[in-house]
Amino acid sequence: MPGGVVIAGAGQAGFQCAFSLRAEGYDGPITLVGEEPYLPYQRPPLSKGCLLGKQDLDDVGLRPAAFYETNRIELQMGRRIASIDRAERRVLLDGGGELGYDYLILATGSRNRLLPVANAILGGVFYLRTRDEAASLMDGLETARSVVVIGGGFIGLEVAAAVSSYGMNVVVVEPQARLMQRAVGPVVSAHHLDLHTRHGVRIALGAAPAEILGGGGGVVGVRLNTGETLPADLVVAGIGVIPQTELAEAAGLRVENGIAVDEYLRTEDDAIYAVGDCASYVSRFGGGRVRLQSVQNAVDQARCVAGGIAGAAKPYDAVPWFWTDQYDAKLQMAGLSNGFDTEVVRGEVESGQFSVLYFRGGTLLAIDSVNRPGDHMAGRKLLAGGSTLTADQAADGSFELKTAIPA
Ligand code: APR
Repeated sequence: MPGGVVIAGAGQAGFQCAFSLRAEGYDGPITLVGEEPYLPYQRPPLSKGCLLGKQDLDDVGLRPAAFYETNRIELQMGRRIASIDRAERRVLLDGGGELGYDYLILATGSRNRLLPVANAILGGVFYLRTRDEAASLMDGLETARSVVVIGGGFIGLEVAAAVSSYGMNVVVVEPQARLMQRAVGPVVSAHHLDLHTRHGVRIALGAAPAEILGGGGGVVGVRLNTGETLPADLVVAGIGVIPQTELAEAAGLRVENGIAVDEYLRTEDDAIYAVGDCASYVSRFGGGRVRLQSVQNAVDQARCVAGGIAGAAKPYDAVPWFWTDQYDAKLQMAGLSNGFDTEVVRGEVESGQFSVLYFRGGTLLAIDSVNRPGDHMAGRKLLAGGSTLTADQAADGSFELKTAIPA
């Protein structure tokens, strides 16, 4: 019972698939199925503008309801797909009902990794990935005085920056030896450690929570594995995400740190694609199979799949890029720096405006920029291919990065 394109998941990637299918001229039925009860929305503002009180939670929608009507995109919000029947090309919905498909796109995203400690779901322990979680956290913050943030990655540090601006006591607990270790190099980690410290946030590196301490129906503190107990009336955990691969797995599709897809983002079933946080693909930027959690990856992979379904298939080859805003520091990352052998700093780290370029075997791997958007944009173009930029050139402050961008 085939019937157009069914998109499982209505986050940034799922939304973009629907959008781009129409933009590419696909004329068949499109159904977007999403578990959350809201029209597709953007997540980045939840931990940035919304938490800072600069953006309303009602203003994070990607498009108004009329857009979906005009573009004949059927929305099934507040619905979950229970299983995939590959033989019959249909999905079965939780609570009854089914949808046939010619193509199924899995854009199932990720879910929060939960704290592996006692009392992790006690009232007063918050996570931040969805609109509802953002609303609960903002409610909790109204009366909080001492906040412990668990995880010194993007979410934890964005929360720490926002919360400290309200004058609360904030401690960030991070088990690794440096901040944002998954995504940036040591120079940037050290810069951000200093940045947070200057704003009155204490960063406890090399420490992990052993127990969330409760009392009076809420949280009263966090006991660390170092023996120290931190008082807290609110705890936020940002300790990473887990790709949602269960639907694919149950349908017999290969999962390898994400739903495994080929260069066209197809699973081994030609009628099923996977995009965004839930998918792993072989990237020339990562030296193997990678799974990326970013708006860029969600949007560009969705465009690639829409192009493939609408008839103009091209392999996925976009330069990965990410950003995070903390205080007045806009940190932008392009490429993947893991495995670099040489790093070059441009600008003065102390000035809060600098970039770090990472090389391996003389080839540019990645560039992290703090308040140097021009370097970031040049870096993306350099990484796209054909650049001859050397570490010596990068180290020469008078050398303009953009002159090494291939014509
Ligand atoms: N206790 C404390 N910290 C932990 C634990 C733990 N048990 N487990 C992991 N961590 C730390 C990691 O060392 C890491 O520094 O939590 C941090 C998680 O950081 P990220 O991987 O950046 O994940 P997170 O900040 O949760 O962001 C999740 O949302 O904004 C997006 O792109 C972002 O993909 C990311 C996602």
